[in-house]
Amino acid sequence: MNEVITRSRPAKVAPGERLRVAVIGTGHVGLITCTSLAAVGHDVVGNDADRDKIDLLTSGRMPFYEPDVAELLDVCLADGRLRFTGDTSDAVSGADVVFICVGTPPRASGKANLVAVEQAARQVARAATGPLVIAEKSTVPAGTAERVQRTLWLERPELAASIDVVSNPEFLREGRALEDSLEPDRILVGASTQRAFDVMQRLYRPFVERGVRLIETNIATAELAKHACNVFLAMKISYANALARICERADGDVTAIVEVMGADPRIGPEFLGAGLGYGGYCFPKDLVAFERLAADLGYELPLLSAVAKINDDAVDAALHKLRDALWNLEDKRVALLGLAFKPGTDDVRFSPALALAQNLLEEGATVVGYDPYAAANAVRECPGLELADDPYDAARGAHCVVLSTGWPEFRELDLAKMAEIVSFPILVDARNFLEPEEVVSAGFTHYQMGRPTIHPPPRHERG
Ligand code: UDX
Repeated sequence: MNEVITRSRPAKVAPGERLRVAVIGTGHVGLITCTSLAAVGHDVVGNDADRDKIDLLTSGRMPFYEPDVAELLDVCLADGRLRFTGDTSDAVSGADVVFICVGTPPRASGKANLVAVEQAARQVARAATGPLVIAEKSTVPAGTAERVQRTLWLERPELAASIDVVSNPEFLREGRALEDSLEPDRILVGASTQRAFDVMQRLYRPFVERGVRLIETNIATAELAKHACNVFLAMKISYANALARICERADGDVTAIVEVMGADPRIGPEFLGAGLGYGGYCFPKDLVAFERLAADLGYELPLLSAVAKINDDAVDAALHKLRDALWNLEDKRVALLGLAFKPGTDDVRFSPALALAQNLLEEGATVVGYDPYAAANAVRECPGLELADDPYDAARGAHCVVLSTGWPEFRELDLAKMAEIVSFPILVDARNFLEPEEVVSAGFTHYQMGRPTIHPPPRHERG
């Protein structure tokens, strides 16, 4: 069994402390919330409008790829601590805590679309059978909890005073959601009554007893803190990418610069990896949503548009390298190794690899992609893309190989074999992921992001 699961078991909740939990929405956030709370011993019911998903989960199968979660799902289903239902009333009836984990996709303006949150709040209000806590886990703008509370007053005026709304944002990384949920860095609860804090303390006691810090704030602070964290991380990445653009013009090496920066404990080494930029369903939309929220509050925050622009520029910089290497992109064949927005997930939403693929296709190139998990999702999102069964299949006959997502398996690539089957031995390492010496000694010209391009030694001098 996965080590993190073993450490979290057997269930730690004392019998009198066990809570009944309902989770509305079983996507990446909701499903992980279900499994982690059931794993520590609470009684959890997951609810989703998508009946196929409910059937899939009930039979212990995952609707998306997330390492090791299927194993925990099996354990929790077998324990009888977790079940799934398509009926919101069934989930909410008798619940002590109801989590709202529905999607908050971006509107055309960049603002978060909160229609699903409102619908969930209405459904919970109608189905509530007694006092409870509604916890928003979806990433929402400050002020949302207040809107949920007002919805309760409109829907169930007789019960609204006994329902507390709290903000309890998640900090899960896709691909590492299991460890982030069972062994989080911190748990954040924003509430306005001691009654609500008491319930949330009881809910998270098994975690706090294992040393996890529970931070309590007012509701708006918790809502803002979630955006503040994601935006700061995106800002760090964009700063590293901006440095990469400067290094490319000044003959510097961004990898060495961020090593120097990261050695300063005030800066820290994480999230300074220059490359193709950030993607996924959190950073891009949270950044814009936060900027819009600030503007709505009467405060302009142009810093955030600059962060997003630097991120877009990272894909342009990779394209520029391809043009430099290949001259015209029309009729060139490009192998893209990695299509997911990052390793460890099959999620391609806002994937920089797919943004690059789309640009290449628009310029007339043929793009052959390989990804160990995200291929099917990628081709749905980017229909012109051709798919290969393995990295060598993608590279065969390619005029350029691009490493676009840093999957660990790419460290094991037989680069000499790959150099034999490409048309031109050119590799753009758009994640600064491979060892330059290995790439050039295999015979490739090695382009990197924010680092000098290295040409291979003449064939007779290679090892
Ligand atoms: C993020 C936050 O980390 C998490 O706390 C929050 O709750 C949800 O959003 P996630 O979107 O799963 O999680 O991905 P994360 O691991 O943070 O990476 C985001 C993007 O940044 C990826 O595209 C990744 O490739 C990129 N990245 C990360 C870089 O480009 N450079 C880095 O140094 C680190």
